[in-house]
Amino acid sequence: MSEEPDGATPLDPDEREGLRFKHVQTRGELDRLEQANIVDGLRWLNRQKTLDVLSDAFVYRLHKELFGQVWRWAGQRRQTEKNIGVAPHQVDVQLRNLLDNTRHQIDHKAYPPVELALRFHHRLVQIHVFPNGNGRHARIMTDALLRHCLHHPPIRWAGPTDDRDLQAAAAHRSAYIRALREADARNTAPLLKLFGGEPSRE
Ligand SMILES: Nc1ncnc2c1ncn2[C@@H]1O[C@H](COP(=O)(O)OP(=O)(O)OP(=O)(O)O)[C@@H](O)[C@H]1O
Ligand SMILES: [Mg+2]
Repeated sequence: MSEEPDGATPLDPDEREGLRFKHVQTRGELDRLEQANIVDGLRWLNRQKTLDVLSDAFVYRLHKELFGQVWRWAGQRRQTEKNIGVAPHQVDVQLRNLLDNTRHQIDHKAYPPVELALRFHHRLVQIHVFPNGNGRHARIMTDALLRHCLHHPPIRWAGPTDDRDLQAAAAHRSAYIRALREADARNTAPLLKLFGGEPSRE
């Protein structure tokens, strides 16, 4: 499948094996199947009365709800090296650290809510828990964190652009990936600027 978007993680042949629909030929078909699954996953999420967002069980369960109709490996952690992400055997411990640190930051009001959420988002995609779907999963995780732990409205991930303006959407996507790369280098300012976080006190 060609035409991977900027910053997307390519799949290994083994991971591709996990596709539940053998007829899929194009990126567009796959995107539509995944999108339909995500709609169901979001319905599941909205039905939950209480959520332990900062538990590893929830992180894995949410991925399964979002992608399990399309990928057999949904909800299971990555087994292979990618160009982004920690070594596969480090995923569990790094995820545990992130969840614990985030709990601590919330308890101590270490950052304003949106900044706290964006730092969480960046580290979650940087760990890259799954073979694919990390970006979408981590954006939904971040909104769940804002809603359930920080009592704050979600982030406008699509930006101010109209969905039908493909050029503006592509530019926004590139700015998002650039901002994540800056955050890899410990500069979170571009990510905060892009998604409306208040300036940091650092
Ligand atoms: N340099 C980087 N540092 C941290 N995270 C990154 C970096 N580059 C890309 N990412 C994240 O990885 C995601 C791509 O990973 P993956 O393909 O697993 O997710 P996806 O949900 O399939 O992608 P998409 O965001 O295109 O829907 C990007 O959306 C972004 O969130
Ligand atoms: Mg992808």
